[in-house]
Amino acid sequence: MGRLAPTALPSSVSRFIGRRAEVAELRRLVGQHRLVTVLGSGGCGKTRLAIETAARARSDFPGGIAFAELAGLHGPEGVAGAVAGSLGLTGTAAIEMAPVIGDARLLIVVDNAEHVLDAVSRLVQDLLLRCPGLAVIVTSREQLHVTGEMAWRVPPMRLPPAEAPVALADIAAFDAVELFAARAAERLGGFRVDHENAALVASICRRLDGIPLALELVAARVGALGLAELFNRLDDGLRLLAMSSRAAVPRHQTLRATIDWSHELLDGPERLLLRRLAVFAGTFDLAAAEAVCADRNLAARDVADILQRLVDKCLLEPHPAGAGGLRYGMLQVIKQYALERLPEPEAAILRARHAAHYAAAVERLDADDRAFHVRGVELQAEYDNVRLALDWAGAHDPDLEVRTVEHLRWFWILKGALLEALQRTESALLRRPESPARRAALHADVATWRRKSGDVAGGAAHLDEAALLLDRIDDPRLASRVLRGRGLIRAACDDLPGAERDFLDAIALLDGLPANDDAVGALNNLARLRLLQGRTDQALIDMERAVQVAGRIARSNRPDHEAMLMLSQGAILSALNREEEAWERFLASARHAVHNGNRQECGDALQGLACVAARMRGEAACLELLAAARRMLDLAGASTDSCMVAHVARAERSSREALGARRAREAWTRGSGLDCDTVLERIDALTRRDAGGLLPRRKLEIVRLVADGLSNKEIAARLSISERTVEAHLDQLRRRFGLPNRTAMATWAISQGLVGT
Ligand SMILES: Nc1ncnc2c1ncn2[C@@H]1O[C@H](COP(=O)(O)OP(=O)(O)OP(=O)(O)O)[C@@H](O)[C@H]1O
Ligand SMILES: [Mg+2]
Repeated sequence: MGRLAPTALPSSVSRFIGRRAEVAELRRLVGQHRLVTVLGSGGCGKTRLAIETAARARSDFPGGIAFAELAGLHGPEGVAGAVAGSLGLTGTAAIEMAPVIGDARLLIVVDNAEHVLDAVSRLVQDLLLRCPGLAVIVTSREQLHVTGEMAWRVPPMRLPPAEAPVALADIAAFDAVELFAARAAERLGGFRVDHENAALVASICRRLDGIPLALELVAARVGALGLAELFNRLDDGLRLLAMSSRAAVPRHQTLRATIDWSHELLDGPERLLLRRLAVFAGTFDLAAAEAVCADRNLAARDVADILQRLVDKCLLEPHPAGAGGLRYGMLQVIKQYALERLPEPEAAILRARHAAHYAAAVERLDADDRAFHVRGVELQAEYDNVRLALDWAGAHDPDLEVRTVEHLRWFWILKGALLEALQRTESALLRRPESPARRAALHADVATWRRKSGDVAGGAAHLDEAALLLDRIDDPRLASRVLRGRGLIRAACDDLPGAERDFLDAIALLDGLPANDDAVGALNNLARLRLLQGRTDQALIDMERAVQVAGRIARSNRPDHEAMLMLSQGAILSALNREEEAWERFLASARHAVHNGNRQECGDALQGLACVAARMRGEAACLELLAAARRMLDLAGASTDSCMVAHVARAERSSREALGARRAREAWTRGSGLDCDTVLERIDALTRRDAGGLLPRRKLEIVRLVADGLSNKEIAARLSISERTVEAHLDQLRRRFGLPNRTAMATWAISQGLVGT
């Protein structure tokens, strides 16, 4: 047999990039478990990670580190020999290796085990039992499933997020971008991530799901094709899968070869399901896989089991969903590969079933009686597939397209998805549904989406079309919507009396009908119009009516009015100088919008908050919030709420003047980086930090007088208000800022810079 003489770890010509957290995690696992399986799809970086981790852990293994490469083996017979060889031994069975290893503190990296899993499992278990100082890292596309195994799935290389803006310096620091840039620079001297190409590079990395091998193969083409052309070609499966390089191992020369390696290890049913699953977009659940993929060649009851096997083999990614559910997703390159294997007419049949399944899901969710924001979360998870279903319906089944669009209306309102709603609704209208009622409703919807995205004239034309059709149908709710649309357009054109007439007519049309969301909407429109007319008290009364009607609507039919009503209330209260209440309403509305991922509504709420902030001396906060609002509205394709235009302009002007150019610029930059996921935290921080700065005028006056040593009675006299009011304000201040007595309040007021300004 000989003496233990572990072979060296293989060295790589290319630099190891990023993966700090992953190497640390893997090292920790190797310290805790004697058998760690590094799992993942082809080319995801298992071997590089295992080698890097082993090298760093050298001092933990005085007996040495061995590296056994199994990819070259054609069958299980060679496994023991390869492992023995890595130890400098010639034996072929564990029973012969074990006495030589003895109790040495030794680490063996067994690389690429998926094609010889059983043999590796048996050998490794045997060795671990006999050699107490031994630890093993196995890299494999499939788990061994033996006792004591700690399986760890390699995550993708870190990717810049799709939506949030990232600073240039930060983009280059994402592992995936760094790897892409490094490999591109090897081919094209001087290649760097800069302002011009950063977004494109980030998109390419995301499109490749951060898989190192894919990044390397694609980066190698930068010199020949240029980034933009390269990005376009990624959607062409044939080209992507064939991009080649003269890599160390044949398996890595193209993505197709890499995936072939996994595909060859699948049985018939696994291959069948894998190629059928390629018709899904994003993630999907078991029920969808069963509904779309099962037929007489594949029993629905078998789908769950085969899905699990594909997950085990790293051809599907498991995605834990809420409430203990599980969804599945396929890496893009694997999907391209699977699509290549999906022949016609099988593909056409599956796509039709896919569209029918998701159209039915949309219809069910529309008819569901749970709250809209709850259903919204569910529909959002399916939305990539819903889009695909709509596209399919657009080309093959116009009637299905129209119906699905109708069932999605609530969802687009909930999400503030103006541009998508507009495009999809216009597309449905082009199908010219036969029923005049349907056409009228679609025209009215297009008018709404157009107006909200700033195209008032376009909106008016569609309202005219809807009105013509209305002559032939009896639908008071639709008629009231058309009137409201007219009124809103009139208001936008400064015809306030005309708008008032339209809104009052719209309300009258609904008289006698059970409470419904059109009535709430009409009252809300009227209240906002009163605000524009300067009749704030009347606005408050109309608003209260709107809230009352909303409360009477059965929950199942109640769209999420809350946010809309809170926005209007905020605007009215702000006009009445009731800043604190206004702040609270706007904030509640912002929370609601954030919860639903509705940028349009969030932008509106932030503008409201900004206006209040400006009036409470929070000028920096004001500009920050306005910048965030501007960006969100732009992303949503929405224009500023007509009620708020003048206020917003005023708040911005006064804040800029108060801050000076430099500080104003800084605040604006900070705000431009905020999005739905970060803005609430920022508002909390702003409110805390500017606690003093964000005090309403009345409270500020009172605090100052307290600091000057005046009694409640003197303060009341000075401000011409009742002593009770003074006490109430002080009480709120005490609770809000935790100030036990007047001395504490005075000290605090001085520390906040509230005194003497
Ligand atoms: N952190 C990294 N830094 C630099 N290059 C990397 C890194 N991770 C992976 N690579 C490169 O990406 C390619 C694929 O990596 P690797 O060989 O580790 O994948 P794998 O998961 O072991 O694939 P397979 O399943 O085919 O064995 C290799 O060319 C490797 O050098
Ligand atoms: Mg490998």
